[in-house]
Amino acid sequence: MANLFPRWSNWLPLKIIFCLLVLGGGVSSGIWYYFTPKYTRVGYQPTQPVPFSHKIHAGQLGMDCRYCHSFVETAAYSNIPTTQVCMNCHSQIQRESPKLELVRESWKTGRPIEWVQIHKTPDYVYFNHSVHVNRGVSCVSCHGKVNEMDVVYHAESHSMSWCLDCHRNPADFVRPISEVTNLNWVPPAGKTQREIGQELVKKWHVNPPDKNCAGCHR
Ligand code: HEC
Ligand code: HEC
Ligand code: HEC
Ligand code: HEC
Ligand code: HEC
Repeated sequence: MANLFPRWSNWLPLKIIFCLLVLGGGVSSGIWYYFTPKYTRVGYQPTQPVPFSHKIHAGQLGMDCRYCHSFVETAAYSNIPTTQVCMNCHSQIQRESPKLELVRESWKTGRPIEWVQIHKTPDYVYFNHSVHVNRGVSCVSCHGKVNEMDVVYHAESHSMSWCLDCHRNPADFVRPISEVTNLNWVPPAGKTQREIGQELVKKWHVNPPDKNCAGCHR
């Protein structure tokens, strides 16, 4: 008896099941991708090779961020300090501390300490620190209260919508340049953040890219 259907149709149900499986897999791996902590990144807190504490250095000792992150106002990238910067003090202070063993070793051998990078924008995104820091955007807006962290963690999401939330309302964030590395700054009595922000946005003609995709994807 002649087959009414072409041969390939025998495979049709199988193909449909296969497609559903792939689709289902895609959906669940999509959910996995978006909801795992690594993707949202907030809270990511790797163990560093040396138990360096921002709470001690930037908090209690009151060191300015720029003492160590010295390129943050002048370059796209914010640097991590070299071992020499640590040894400015630690060749005298806590010379015997076992917690500083790796620092002394790095100093002797010249091999840099392998700090684990926490914040990273994808390669297809253009980001520049100095542009922000020189327009009164504080470290605290993008990194949280680092001066209170014993171990640094990813405090903000750094997703696209997060960038845009500020780019659409910069007045809620910008402050006098002199206060950018003062993470505890609050507006002076009688003024609100918004009032101060609006003045500065007007004065500096602040206009961050929000609709222009090429502003951040160059
Ligand atoms: C004494 C030097 C020193 C000072 C002062 C300092 N930092 Fe750091 N910072 C480091 C070192 C070393 C690391 C890398 C190890 C770590 O993550 O703790 C680092 C890491 C960071 C990171 C995470 C970088 C990444 O991998 O994403 C941020 C954010 C940061 N610092 C912000 C600040 C801010 C804000 C201040 C000022 C309130 C500041 N730091 C002051 C030395 C310093
Ligand atoms: C301006 C001086 C100064 C610089 C620069 C500095 N430190 Fe310190 N650091 C101190 C002081 C002071 C203490 C001791 C605080 C205390 O005992 O309460 C300390 C404590 C420490 C401790 C804890 C030691 C222990 O046994 O408790 C570590 C670890 C440390 N620093 C690492 C670093 C690293 C890594 C760098 C470079 C990225 C660095 N420090 C740069 C002044 C400095
Ligand atoms: C507008 C948001 C924003 C502000 C303001 C900001 N940062 Fe960042 N920071 C970022 C982003 C985004 C990254 C990841 C950059 C990348 O991957 O190139 C980052 C990365 C870093 C790193 C890691 C660099 C590396 O290569 O490991 C350090 C250190 C850092 N920032 C310190 C600071 C300090 C200190 C300040 C304040 C003076 C500051 N940042 C202000 C958004 C910001
Ligand atoms: C808390 C506020 C804030 C956040 C968060 C923020 N920005 Fe900005 N951004 C600004 C301000 C303010 C300017 C300065 C605009 C001006 O001077 O007209 C700016 C300017 C820029 C510019 C244009 C300057 C240039 O170099 O061409 C780019 C690109 C940019 N931001 C990228 C980003 C990216 C990417 C993120 C997220 C990872 C981000 N920004 C997060 C406030 C912010
Ligand atoms: C203020 C900076 C900024 C602007 C403007 C911007 N983007 Fe993005 N975009 C980002 C950042 C940051 C990421 C990376 C997000 C992440 O790593 O989670 C991103 C990621 C993406 C992705 C990758 C998918 C995703 O969601 O992770 C696409 C697609 C994209 N952007 C398209 C666009 C388009 C289209 C526009 C214009 C309407 C635009 N972007 C404007 C900052 C920006």
